[in-house]
Amino acid sequence: MASKAATNSQLAARLSAAVPRGISVATPMFVARAENSEVWDVEGRRYIDFAGGIAVQNIGHRHPRVMAAVRAQLDAFTHTAFQVTPYEVYVRLAERLNDLAPGSLPKKTIILSTGAEAIENAVKIARAATGRPAIISFAGGFHGRTMMALALTGKINPYKVGFGPFPGDVFHAAFPDTYRSVTVEQSLASIEQLFRADVEPSRVAAIIIEPVQGEGGFNVAPPAFMRALRDLSDRHGILLIADEIQTGFGRTGKMFAVEHSGIAPDLITIAKAIGGGFPLSAVIGRADVMDGPIAGGLGSTFAGNAVSCAAGLAVLDVMQEEGILARAQKLGEHVAERLHTMQSDRRFTCIGDVRGLGPMLAMEFVKDRASKAPAPELAKSITAKAAERGLIVISCGIYSNVVRVLMPLTMSLEMADEGLGILEASVLDALAKF
Ligand SMILES: Cc1ncc(COP(=O)(O)O)c(C=O)c1O
Repeated sequence: MASKAATNSQLAARLSAAVPRGISVATPMFVARAENSEVWDVEGRRYIDFAGGIAVQNIGHRHPRVMAAVRAQLDAFTHTAFQVTPYEVYVRLAERLNDLAPGSLPKKTIILSTGAEAIENAVKIARAATGRPAIISFAGGFHGRTMMALALTGKINPYKVGFGPFPGDVFHAAFPDTYRSVTVEQSLASIEQLFRADVEPSRVAAIIIEPVQGEGGFNVAPPAFMRALRDLSDRHGILLIADEIQTGFGRTGKMFAVEHSGIAPDLITIAKAIGGGFPLSAVIGRADVMDGPIAGGLGSTFAGNAVSCAAGLAVLDVMQEEGILARAQKLGEHVAERLHTMQSDRRFTCIGDVRGLGPMLAMEFVKDRASKAPAPELAKSITAKAAERGLIVISCGIYSNVVRVLMPLTMSLEMADEGLGILEASVLDALAKF
């Protein structure tokens, strides 16, 4: 039974007694309710949400059209297992996603529950379709917390510590990094080096890349790099997988981030924002590739849950009918300008870099701009100070020194400004400590 009027600190004590420490909580408050871009805690305190449930609430918490679609589905049925007794809402969502995905070849889609599950399935499909075992991913990349997804992930601490051994035949190449001077040419050379030293291209099933690294620190893959990967994959019969789990569904101002470079991947993984707050993910891909696994080779009890599919269809309707991409672009320009203004202010020499794509934006904090020495403690202190001041904001980055903004794309410019004001004050608060 729900406890009556528990406080944040009472609940925090129960949490640490009942939940393992491996789940490390970013914001020391307990949610009571949420609406569009705001969250209220159990003590009635209001927060502006710059995290959006980690890039999930792109159309805002509890969008009325998502709520209505979910309610209608609840009144019909919730779960039958799609592979036992199928239902139209899954098929309709697959059709809509097939139509949306870039590229002119016919598409098919499998619907799943979580991002990591989409990654696992993309790897299975790529291996079955090519008959090859190896996968190339990138340093700094993040693909989830199941074993294969962890093997692909290119950041050790905290994700991989203590969990090995991981599945083999996974190789990490260098991801371009403008701020830390890793060029597109160097990244491509690192793949050629893998081909010389570790795995011949004819054994590689797929290259998997986030068009903008999410957990890795919002590093943007330059369009020239994405196009070079497309060429290289075609040359060697390798499949190109775009992991759009964090970048997808408007987060970068386009439906899919790969649209910025104009390439069509063979497979795309999506999750997070497609579900509008419900567990929903998918692999969308070229029909001939998606049909690689044998009949019965794919599936899962809850994959393509009817309630989640209904939410996903409503999210697509909202994206298309409520001008979300145009709002996202406007929001992105507005927030980018404010962050660059902060960076050029002499009080904020700790901001080494401001980067991102559209409204997917972040600031990298450094001890000084000349050495670019990462300042993870400062970033941690900033997010903590922000929570005290009523802003939910989270960090990321291979050095854990990047503060990212993932607000709902439906947030008003006024509320974004209010949140950015809090963020600015929180940086000053944190600096006073160092
Ligand atoms: C790019 C990317 N891939 C995969 C995942 C894993 O998704 P999930 O946490 O839903 O398993 C994430 C989650 O943050 C992600 O950002």
